[in-house]
Amino acid sequence: MRIRLHWILLLIFSTAASIFLLTLVEVRTQRRGLGRELQRRAEGLAGYFQDRLDPLMLPQRQPALSEEIQRLGNREDLLGLAVYDDQGNHLAVTSWLEPRLARLPAAVVQATAENGGRGQFLSLDGQSIYLFAVPLHHGASVTGALAMVYDASYIQADILHTWHSAFWMVLVVIPLVLLLAWAVYRVYFIRPLARTAHWMRELRKRPLAPRPPPSPVGDPLRPLAEEAARLAQTLHEARAAASLEARLRASGLSLWTAERLRVHVQTCLEDSRLFVISNREPYIHSATGRGIAVSVPASGLVTALEPILRACDGTWIAQGTGSADRQTVDAWDRLRVPPDDPHYTLRRVWLSGEENEGYYFGFANEGLWPLCHIAHARPLFRGADWEHYQEVNRKFARVALQEMAGAEAPCVLVQDYHFALLPRLIKQHRPDARVAIFWHIPWPNPQAFGICPWQRELLDGLLGADLIGFHIRSHCNYFLETVDAALESRIDWDRSAVNRGGQRTLVRPYPISVEFPEPMMPAPTDERGDTVERATLFQNLGVNSIFLGLGVDRLDYTKGILERLAAIERFLEKYPVYRQQFTFIQIGAPSRTRIGRYRDLIEEVQAEAARINRRFQTSQWRPIVLLLREHSRAEIEPYYKHADVCLVTALHDGMNLVAKEFIAARDDEQGMLILSRFTGAARELPEALIVNPYDTESLADALRQALEMDPDERRTRMQNLRRIVRERNVFRWAGSLISDLAELRPAAHPAGSEPAASLSRADAS
Ligand code: G6P
Repeated sequence: MRIRLHWILLLIFSTAASIFLLTLVEVRTQRRGLGRELQRRAEGLAGYFQDRLDPLMLPQRQPALSEEIQRLGNREDLLGLAVYDDQGNHLAVTSWLEPRLARLPAAVVQATAENGGRGQFLSLDGQSIYLFAVPLHHGASVTGALAMVYDASYIQADILHTWHSAFWMVLVVIPLVLLLAWAVYRVYFIRPLARTAHWMRELRKRPLAPRPPPSPVGDPLRPLAEEAARLAQTLHEARAAASLEARLRASGLSLWTAERLRVHVQTCLEDSRLFVISNREPYIHSATGRGIAVSVPASGLVTALEPILRACDGTWIAQGTGSADRQTVDAWDRLRVPPDDPHYTLRRVWLSGEENEGYYFGFANEGLWPLCHIAHARPLFRGADWEHYQEVNRKFARVALQEMAGAEAPCVLVQDYHFALLPRLIKQHRPDARVAIFWHIPWPNPQAFGICPWQRELLDGLLGADLIGFHIRSHCNYFLETVDAALESRIDWDRSAVNRGGQRTLVRPYPISVEFPEPMMPAPTDERGDTVERATLFQNLGVNSIFLGLGVDRLDYTKGILERLAAIERFLEKYPVYRQQFTFIQIGAPSRTRIGRYRDLIEEVQAEAARINRRFQTSQWRPIVLLLREHSRAEIEPYYKHADVCLVTALHDGMNLVAKEFIAARDDEQGMLILSRFTGAARELPEALIVNPYDTESLADALRQALEMDPDERRTRMQNLRRIVRERNVFRWAGSLISDLAELRPAAHPAGSEPAASLSRADAS
């Protein structure tokens, strides 16, 4: 790219003009300063001269005045003196001045009129002079003025010198400025631009790689480079998706992909608008020291639901929990997400601390969670928590109805046990809406559920939905049995539906899953880490070991972490050859820590791990490493890839996505999964080593079996497990849920039923 002539001229002109203006200011200051100095000198002498001349201002003393003037004017620093009467006539003047001072100087007139000293610069015969006039007196009256004349030509010389310097400065500075501008232009503009262009060319030419090459950022073109990187990522994803689709078509494989889900959702929903309601939000804004950071909670839910919302530009309603969440919404508590590439709306709902305490920690997590998980934790049902749970469900219903206003036959996907009452609350006011709720946790047997004092209200709330989804068939059956036992209704066992009060609710299994990374698909954007070796993993943890066992969980008492540790202890007792050879790494994200049972669990896990370590550890090795903090998926990935065995020993779990994530990560077809038979995943993954986590002995044996399994058998099992997870991926889960939801034929929208009178409160937030 050439630098155009007019840019050069502009640069030259602006540099010269700046120097000119600066010199002008300097010259004015200089002139003023030197003038003041002359004035001070004149004022210093004036008093003495006035004393000598005042008495001589009488007509009869004219000769004496002339004599005195000649005497006083005979000083080196003075060019001359002149005395005027009060009419401006010469009375006496020194000889050098006499022929030159023809006109009456203005300073003399002013000094006489104003009775004070006045100065002025003048030119006499081409010579620059400074004239200072002071009044002369007889008594109190002004009788005339004395003009003291100094040579001021050196001021002119000084000023000329300043202009000369400025001229030379222009000559020197302009080339320097041009050189500097050229250097800056090349380094900060041309080179980054060339790098960006090269990077874009590479991107275009390269065969489809798992991820685009890193963009050339870190210079003033950073915003441009970042935008280009985003554009490249989008293009890359589109190309990868198209290529994957083509490959799948060619191989005759019918796999669900994000792209297929997108098309499917658009076809199914047609003009219906989609609303998703969950407690956890998909994007959390948090205030950090340096501004606002956005994060995506490590949750399978976002992976599953985001492609659906993106496809149809839906609305996701969720609780705002981030410290900067309120700063990032508009006046209607909405924002467009994903923040980098907005495709759908997130509507945040605000809960007070008290509401959250009662609804989330209390009823949902101390009541319903232990009620639905058979893990021997006593559910706590407090009246006040139930009140909050109802109120929060009503609040979400108000917000949902507000958002749905004007939408014809909307589709609503409610998520999980936090919102059992929501389907009924919505359906009451919008019978035309197609409402589904997906219950992400297990549904227990009717006797277990029956201990809940509000089981009828919860069931009634759920049966407001047209469709209720569970992970597995047995949860559906338990639900139907619970309804049968608790409510007046007609169960259609053949079609797995409940008919009640003129409404029909389908109850179906939808086993949730994970995204299975196809070789063509770009890695998730946060996965930028280099490949980490197993030795590095051990080294970073300060252990010297050979076999790696892995557990990845939210720190929840339903996950069977203590049972797992007991089995590891038994394993090392029973098979001592594995001491100093096998290390188990437990990655655990602290969760719901305001609840005592969860805090206790952390302490128990730490104490057990420490006890077992003390029992077996050596200076170089320990059997258990706890990493108890939130880890991103990218951080967990190397552990998944290097684990010889992954232990999923939940005491009861709706599905358990860790089991599927581990399988999806093993593209080397190595590693073995030990899986609790009490997880939903066990129904789909029979080729894992299925265990009873309460049976310490056989769990220890399963660990040995996993480590000593014939490599061919291990590979075959992993291949089969991977085939299942690949086929039944998360897009298939979302796709079948949406298909069934779209097929529902709800009642017509009764005119005027929209305002939720019974729910209404002045403020829906
Ligand atoms: C379970 C629930 C989800 C929940 C997740 C994390 O999987 O089914 O609804 O989001 O746990 O729990 P948290 O309480 O942190 O949202």
